[in-house]
Amino acid sequence: MRAQLDGLAAVLRDCVEGGAGVGYMRPFTHEQARRVYDTYAEEVEQGRRILLAAFSAGTLVGTVQVVFAPHPNQPHRADIARMAVHRSARRQGVAQLLMERAETEARAAGRTLLVLDTVTGSDAERLYARLGWTRVGVIPGYALDPDGRLSDTTVFWKAVAG
Ligand SMILES: CC(C)(COP(=O)(O)OP(=O)(O)OC[C@H]1O[C@@H](n2cnc3c(N)ncnc32)[C@H](O)[C@@H]1OP(=O)(O)O)[C@@H](O)C(=O)NCCC(=O)NCCS
Repeated sequence: MRAQLDGLAAVLRDCVEGGAGVGYMRPFTHEQARRVYDTYAEEVEQGRRILLAAFSAGTLVGTVQVVFAPHPNQPHRADIARMAVHRSARRQGVAQLLMERAETEARAAGRTLLVLDTVTGSDAERLYARLGWTRVGVIPGYALDPDGRLSDTTVFWKAVAG
């Protein structure tokens, strides 16, 4: 995964620059984005999360993560996090492929209850609803968008037991 840090950083930076609410504020540099994935790499190596990436003609265009719930009373649960597709590769089914694979990997790891949250009204919210995730509800004013405006968050869950 460490060999892909620049590609992962480029996708995350592109999403933040495009105004997506994925945890970071503008301006957001390539180096900052690289440090984010450097931290994740450690947890991937420790088996605490799975990171998936999608490639088009050799270029990394999308990524998502399965983050295992750390507590002993939730050995069956994981969060889906950091779904991100470069603006140049959107609307071709990359996110759907990534999510389908994330669900398969989660199930294989025994993580059969999945949870995620996303900006209310975003493209991502539509994607998750389309892929069979159940909406729990909306938390108003949950986070800032990259320009500092408050945005609402929608929480979803999905059971992936085979
Ligand atoms: C949300 C996000 C991940 C979706 O990525 P994507 O790869 O464009 O997603 P998909 O291609 O699977 O689906 C997007 C749309 O394209 C459509 N689509 C998929 N394949 C298509 C094709 N071959 N031709 C035409 N349309 C297509 C889908 O039906 C979907 O339609 P909708 O807008 O009506 O929902 C992307 O917009 C993104 O990275 N946003 C910024 C980051 C973000 O918000 N991440 C979520 C954090 S929780």
